[in-house]
Amino acid sequence: MAKIDYSQRSFSYYPTNAIISAKCIDGVWTEPELSDSFELSLHCFAGVFHYAPSCFEGAKAFMGVDGKVRLFRPDENAKRMINSAKYLDMPYPSVEMFVDMCVKCIQANWEHIPPYESGASLYLRPVLFGINPGLGIKSSKDVMFVVMCSGVGTYSGAKSLSTGTAVLSRNYDRAATHGSGGYKLGANYAQSLHAYNIAHDAGYRELLFLDSATHTHIEEFGSSNFFAIKGDTYITPDSSSVLPSITNKSLRTVAKEFGLKVERRMVMVDELATFDEVNSCGTAVVITPISRIDDKPTLEGSEITRSFSYGEECGEISRKLYNRIIGIQKGLEEDTYGWCLFVEPK
Ligand code: PLP
Ligand code: COI
Repeated sequence: MAKIDYSQRSFSYYPTNAIISAKCIDGVWTEPELSDSFELSLHCFAGVFHYAPSCFEGAKAFMGVDGKVRLFRPDENAKRMINSAKYLDMPYPSVEMFVDMCVKCIQANWEHIPPYESGASLYLRPVLFGINPGLGIKSSKDVMFVVMCSGVGTYSGAKSLSTGTAVLSRNYDRAATHGSGGYKLGANYAQSLHAYNIAHDAGYRELLFLDSATHTHIEEFGSSNFFAIKGDTYITPDSSSVLPSITNKSLRTVAKEFGLKVERRMVMVDELATFDEVNSCGTAVVITPISRIDDKPTLEGSEITRSFSYGEECGEISRKLYNRIIGIQKGLEEDTYGWCLFVEPK
């Protein structure tokens, strides 16, 4: 195989060897099967095509400095998928089955794990969706669980820790107050696609969603959680309509190691003027520093009512947090919390 330059990769789909899948029919799971075909054959009345009974996860496996492969906190992904499936009232894999299929997917795609020096990683995308045919609005009783992967670089395609701009989404909401924002459902992302297109066309890297009831406090970016540094405090929104990010949870732990105070609370839009450093965080984006956030009455309009600036370089504290988390993931730092699952080749 020709040598791949992983250092030039962005967050995209790149072909790999195999996927692994299993079905739950009438409450019984089939044996997980590896396949080198990436195409699925589904009934066109399957729920997933109509009412979106579908949820997914994102996890990363890293080639460590010591040549060992580490999968970061897959049990947390498994638990979050179970919560998403429960919200959709559909069957789900156990934590053990979820993790085992992730491991088998990595093993089947071993030569696609980007080398340590490249800065890239193997992104795993587990998806769970309803497959039994139906017509009325009903949860799916039968589901398919598939784990696929792709060797990816940074989410933006730019260098790690390069800053990007964001815009507040005032006329498009991502998640209703009592809606599904706290779960990783495909439908939540469908909700954001049009708004993202407008923001991207206007040159913004990220879209920052507000609470849908009052538009006065910050929820999260469309791709990731929001966190800010103010003095010696790590601040992140607490809201049931925000996805509970595994990266953010890990960063809050690491922040305490560094002696930072951690505040998980309602964050008002007006507070943006008081923050020293602002970042998005998540599996795909890791930590992406935000250089400026624009406030516009509408995404489509050209009027900018105010801008909040945080500098063109990643902030000092955010960089420290990044180095610690990446250090754990790549075996450069001690994994004090036992977050990484070591995966052996088959
Ligand atoms: N928020 C949204 C909307 C996301 O899509 C993601 C990505 O998974 C996150 C937050 C971050 O979650 P995690 O750190 O578990 O990847
Ligand atoms: C992830 O970070 O794993 C996600 O699912 C976010 C998505 C925008 C790629």
